[in-house]
Order: sequence, then structure tokens, then C-alpha cells
Amino acid sequence: MTTNRILLTALLCGGALFAQVAETPPMGWNSWNFFRNKVDDKTVREIADAMASNGMRDAGYVYVNIDDTWEGERDAQGNIQSNSKFPDMKALADYVHSKGLKFGVYSSPGPKTCARFEGSYQHEEQDARTYAAWGVDYLKYDWCSARTVYQAGEMQPVYKKMGDALKSTGRPIVFSLCQYGRENVWEWAPAVGGNLWRTTGDIRDNWQSMSDLGFEKQKGLEKYAAPGHWNDPDMLEIGNGHMTGDEYRTHMSLWSMLAAPLLAGNDVRSMSDETKAILMNREVIAIDQDKLGKQGWRASKDGDGEVWIRPLADGGYAVGLFNRGAESRKITVKWTDLKWKGKHKVRDLWAHADRGKSKDEFSSDVPSHGVVMLRVAK
Ligand code: GLA
Repeated sequence: MTTNRILLTALLCGGALFAQVAETPPMGWNSWNFFRNKVDDKTVREIADAMASNGMRDAGYVYVNIDDTWEGERDAQGNIQSNSKFPDMKALADYVHSKGLKFGVYSSPGPKTCARFEGSYQHEEQDARTYAAWGVDYLKYDWCSARTVYQAGEMQPVYKKMGDALKSTGRPIVFSLCQYGRENVWEWAPAVGGNLWRTTGDIRDNWQSMSDLGFEKQKGLEKYAAPGHWNDPDMLEIGNGHMTGDEYRTHMSLWSMLAAPLLAGNDVRSMSDETKAILMNREVIAIDQDKLGKQGWRASKDGDGEVWIRPLADGGYAVGLFNRGAESRKITVKWTDLKWKGKHKVRDLWAHADRGKSKDEFSSDVPSHGVVMLRVAK
């Protein structure tokens, strides 16, 4: 090899080593919300097959993440092994990769995970190396039993230990912090290598849980979101059956206004057409994935009617007209909410329809627990 070739190779490898992850909020699927402990190798392969063929992968859902309950015993050298539900993690990762998808796993800094499987306590570097050798692209790291071996104030160094361990593998691995929003995690997560951090306790598949997490619990956190670093109001419940279509459209719209990770939490092998249309609305996904990476916020509230806005890379805004009440109501966004005047072009992202140029404001009837989501041009 000539010196130039060697230099070029070194540069390219260096580039790969320091590749940025999570430049936009991660999108994919996670096993927990629907499967809980009933997830195994066969299911994950079928999920990957479905995502590659039903349009999800092409719409941006690329991470296939196994949550808790894959972990087995450690071998004599202390290497973590999967349990009998997952005979060969490397082969599974290879399979997921062969479908053009990425592969994620879950662990805890404590001795046990929340479901009482083996955690990474005192094996952090070793586990990071194992994950990298398997071809893992994403780690969710859940506090759980760490509370029995550490003080709350030790969260930062504990998370940094795994953040550093992942970095030193040289493999780009998304690092997802899960400690339920304690200790103002949004202030320090990026410094310990976190790409996203849960801001709350667990979501449930019902209106009250979803709307409380999305409308109330993210308030004031918008300034902490940026490319590479995202607030995480938890995974999606869309398609799990205990909310209405309007409520799931609100879930998808609100998470996209919040620049939240979009991790489908349903059985994507068998989805209704309505669930598919919600999860794969590309115009709404484009808001979530907007390159500017600015998280939206509530601009105004009138009783149960709320107007949320999110600035976009093209100079326009995404606008969500949300109705949290029991009756349908008219909701209005005023261009002064955007610090704008005059006429602006409006597109309805669920109707997939242009609404023409609107002067000073735009109003729409919004069904109970529903949303009208707009893209307004500068
Ligand atoms: C915690 C997390 C959940 C899930 C479970 C798994 O409750 O917050 O998202 O990972 O543990 O046991």
C-alpha cells in the first residue's frame, strides 16, 4: 500500500469510528410494550421480516430492539450469554442486519434488570465488548436494581461508565438512558454519552397515561433536545388496542411535535390498515425527523384545545391542533403564535391535503381526543 492509500484508509476507518448516531430521533421497534417476556428469536426474526416488507423500514423504522428478558447466565469467564429463548445472538443480529435493519439490546447497570434477569453490574466493559462483537447497534440501559448498589447521586458516573465502554468498542452504538427522568437527566445525559433519555415512568396503552406523558411531562425540556440528544417520553403504544384511532393519531402527532424517538411497541406482523396508516404517515414522520432537531412546545391553550408548534429546517412550522376534551371543538392557530403576519400556505398532514393560503390564522374542527396536524410554510 502507498502512504496515501494508508492515510486514506486510516481516515475512512476513523470516520466510521466517530460516525454520529441519532442525528434525528431513533426510529424502530421495541419488544416490551406488547410482548413483555414473551419475546424470542423466532418472534424477532418475524418482526424483522415484517418491517422489511410492510413498508416500516423504508419509512425509517430501522432499529429492532429486544427489551428485557433475553439475558442468560454468565459463562466461566464472566461473558454474558443469552437465555434459551435466544440461542445465538450473533446469528440473530446478522439476520436483522441482512434485512437492512439494525439490532438493539437492553441491560441494567445493576446486578439485575427490572424483570430480574442478569444485569451489567461490574461487567460493563466486558458487556460492551460482547455487544459490539454480536453487532449490536443500540443499548437501552435501565436503572432497575442499580438502586440497591448505588446512591441516586451516583447515576452520572454509573451511566458514563457504560457510555465510555460503548465508545471504546469503536462501534457506533446508540446509548439510551432509562432512569425515568430522575436527577434532571436531561442536564447531564449528553455528557455521559447518552443519545436519548427517558423523561418519565413507563407509558401505558391508555389515553390518560399517553396524554399525561406527552402533553404535561415534557414541559420545559424542549431546550435539551438537539441532533444526537433526545428527550424520550417512552415508546409508542399505537396499535396495541386500548386507544381509539383519534387517540393514536394524537400519540403519533404529539411524539413527532416533541422530536421523540418513534419506537413502535406493537405486533408489527399483524397490523390493521389504520395502525399502518398511523405509524407510516410519512408527512408526520418528516416532522419527527426534521433535520433542525428542535423540539416543539405548547404555544397556547384554550380550555381543552391546545396549539403546539415546532420550527422546521425549511423555515416553516409544524402545528398541532389538539383537542383533549370529550366534545369536538374548533381550534385556531394564530400566525402571531409563530411570530408571523400575513398569508401562509397550510397543509393538513393527516388528510394529506393542501388547505390553501390562510390569512392571520387557521381554524379547524377537531374531534374529541383528536388532532389536526399542519405544516405551515414560511
Ligand atoms: C422498566 C422500563 C421499561 C421496560 C421494563 C423491562 O420498567 O422502564 O421500559 O424496559 O423495565 O423490565
